[in-house]
Amino acid sequence: MSVVIEQPNQPRSRKNAQWEKRAWVFMRVSGPLLVVLILGHLMVNLVLPERGVKSIDFAFVAGKWADPFWQVYDGIMLWLAMIHGTNGMRTLVNDYAEREWVRKSFNIALWVAATVLIILGTLVITTFDPCIDPDVESYLPGVCKP
Ligand code: HEM
Repeated sequence: MSVVIEQPNQPRSRKNAQWEKRAWVFMRVSGPLLVVLILGHLMVNLVLPERGVKSIDFAFVAGKWADPFWQVYDGIMLWLAMIHGTNGMRTLVNDYAEREWVRKSFNIALWVAATVLIILGTLVITTFDPCIDPDVESYLPGVCKP
């Protein structure tokens, strides 16, 4: 039995084919990278600490982001997950939105939201300062100079 694949209703131009291929490769590469990063993230945050999830508090986060390694790790995870997730949603929108203005509006909203979250998240990771809390000595003794 042979299977006939129907022609799409609105074939997209070949103009964007190269760009779409790069986006496709990005999904294949970022997917496995995210598996490794997310499993490492869950191990370090939930499995390895003695008290499991209960050990995640302000001091735990402050300790991690005092280390450039975790800043870079979390930054890469943030950027990859946001771009991967947004590009995946773009694929769904392009597949299912029938009206052109709806498709365009959804895609613009997606990338605006992703850009805002990436900028905010990157700022949080790179500018985080535990010493901003006047009460910090009670739970992080000796970390912040008076
Ligand atoms: C944990 C590791 C992950 C792996 C291995 C992975 C892998 C993939 C792959 C290979 C695709 C392309 C599917 C296709 O084109 O047929 C895809 C699509 C997608 N991914 Fe991921 N992904 C992961 C994490 C994530 C995360 C964290 C998000 C959200 C932030 C996400 C959201 C999406 C979305 C919305 C799509 C589009 C779904 C579709 O086309 O039907 N993924 N993923």
